Amino acid sequence: MASADKQSRERSAQLREILNYHNTQYYVYDDPQVDDADYDALFHELRALEERFPDLMTPDSPTQRVGAAPLEGFETVTHSVPMLSLGNAFSDDDVHDFDRRVRERLEREDEHVDYVGEVKLDGLAVSLRYENGVFVRGATRGDGTTGEDITQNLRTIGQIPLVIDQNRAPKVLEVRGEVYLPLSGFHKMNEAAVAREEKTYANPRNAAAGSLRQLDSRVTAKRPLAIFCYALGYSEGGTMPDTHTDTLAMLRELGFPVNPLGKVVKGPKGCLAYYRDMQAQRADLPYEIDGIVYKVNRLDWQRELGQVSRSPRWAVAHKFPAQERKTKLLSVEFQIGRTGAVTPVARLDPVVVGGVTVSNATLHNMDEVRRKDIHVGDTVVVRRAGDVIPEVARVLLDKRPDDAETIQLPVYCPECGTAIEQLDGEAVARCPAGQVCPAQRKQSIIHFASRYALDIEGLGDKLIEQLVDGGYIETAAQLFELDVELLAGLERMGSKSAQNLVDALQKSKSTTFARFIYALGIREVGEATAANLASAFGGIDALREADLEALENVSDVGPIVAQHIQRFFSNDANRTLVDSLLAAGIGWPQEAQAPQYAQSLEGNTYVITGTLSGMTRDQVKHELQLRGAKVSGSVSKKTTALIAGEAAGSKLSKAESLGVTVLGEADLEDLLT
Ligand code: IVH
Repeated sequence: MASADKQSRERSAQLREILNYHNTQYYVYDDPQVDDADYDALFHELRALEERFPDLMTPDSPTQRVGAAPLEGFETVTHSVPMLSLGNAFSDDDVHDFDRRVRERLEREDEHVDYVGEVKLDGLAVSLRYENGVFVRGATRGDGTTGEDITQNLRTIGQIPLVIDQNRAPKVLEVRGEVYLPLSGFHKMNEAAVAREEKTYANPRNAAAGSLRQLDSRVTAKRPLAIFCYALGYSEGGTMPDTHTDTLAMLRELGFPVNPLGKVVKGPKGCLAYYRDMQAQRADLPYEIDGIVYKVNRLDWQRELGQVSRSPRWAVAHKFPAQERKTKLLSVEFQIGRTGAVTPVARLDPVVVGGVTVSNATLHNMDEVRRKDIHVGDTVVVRRAGDVIPEVARVLLDKRPDDAETIQLPVYCPECGTAIEQLDGEAVARCPAGQVCPAQRKQSIIHFASRYALDIEGLGDKLIEQLVDGGYIETAAQLFELDVELLAGLERMGSKSAQNLVDALQKSKSTTFARFIYALGIREVGEATAANLASAFGGIDALREADLEALENVSDVGPIVAQHIQRFFSNDANRTLVDSLLAAGIGWPQEAQAPQYAQSLEGNTYVITGTLSGMTRDQVKHELQLRGAKVSGSVSKKTTALIAGEAAGSKLSKAESLGVTVLGEADLEDLLT
């Protein structure tokens, strides 16, 4: 085999260094310094050299990241320092007990101990060994004493540095962290599995475990795995940090990804405040966490505390309450929405899921009911993710009673008795009765009064239900005929709130044309479309007589939406409704009739966080969307900018770590003018 000449040797070393640098910039700091094509050209140059002179190949070569030949099995690795697991805390009391044990053992009963709060990632613990700055071995935790050698697989994870600064790193350094699958990667993997008609993964943790335990690392290379590092294991040489926070800083400096949410907190009170803060952010994070870890910050204290069996005395995992619970499905009801959509809703034996009592869960539509094979009488798993509506995740088939009943779409609307329709190819069944159906009437009035429609203060869902059920009103127009005397006679209404509501109704009459169109609740006409229609037609007469061609000329309006609009205005009940609303005195100033929402922010994605003094987050979202922007709940590399108010938390640090632009309130004003 040819031995490399001096020039090739020097060039390959140089290429490795350049490529590893760019790799860290891209994967760890999210700050790429070259474009893909330039990176690829350098990469190919190195690979060609290594193919020509195999003795140039080194373990830290970026060419190793694409995976290597499949293994027969994994070798066993004995950890130089055992990989411990954590004791659990499930309640506030457990956290107070943990802190008390720490203080007693340290004989510092009267002090507040500094802890570091960190999110507990739901992935797999790994240990990464560096010798003279080069990544030489990576292992799973295994039983804590011995694990499996998965070096080839770990090399494929772009975030793991193949080399670290030899001048700053100790001679031997073991770094510990958690390999995980970001939710986006998990969804992508499952979509691909569905496309190939393969089994999907139950959760990101299983998918990450399956990816990491591949004997063929070329398969692992295709999986979007990521890592956060959180501790050191064995080390030799070099000066070691004094605190856990310093450890994390050192890891960051050496180019390891460290979770940005870690924070020093004081005593159990600080721990619990951090826990609640993270619990509130949990649903917005781009990865799954299953609790919080508290670690004593001072490393000399950690050593003094030591461990019991396999768990350190200086740390504890405070688990989040399970977000999934088993319960019994008692019956199914069918709810009718504003546009007649029929939604099956499960009535459940009440169960606490993630701290909230759940007695109803949406079953979405009949396709979903059949796909999940849900029967009345089944024991089901109910899932609640963050603030979203609870849903039935799956059925426990082995618990199905003999008398379980299949769920049937009703033939007639449960509210008005009209025959339900299900169009071919549509998952959603509908009651076609429109405003004749009391359920659709109620929902239409709720929509009419809502914040971005006529914004009638003090007119909530429950009150509207009372008004419709009591036969006081049938349409939104009749809202304006209500008087104080009648309103004051309703449940939970005094004469003061009745007067306030009458005032609010009066005030809502002067509105804008765009709000008025939106308030009508035409299918698929959201706020932006309503604004475009308002500026295109200028007045109600032109809009209601518009033909399909004229409608389709409006930006944002396609053939289907155009048909919905035309159908709405050709319906007699709707024409009468519009006339009565106008007769009731609803109007809009001429100037406000054509708000010109040029789609100036189209293609941009914003995330809003913190408290803004001028507007609520919802209002900001609304304003941005009117201008064509998207508003997302979590910061990623794709985020155009983060809009940060007072007391911005993790989203701000995430944006900073990703190099995403951060805008303050003044910038926001510029954006919206
Ligand atoms: S510290 C002795 N920090 O939880 C300390 N662990 O049951 C050991 N984990 O095996 C780990 N996030 O897989 C630590 N921020 C974090 C963690 C974390 C997840 C996992 C890790 C460990 C298990 C402990």
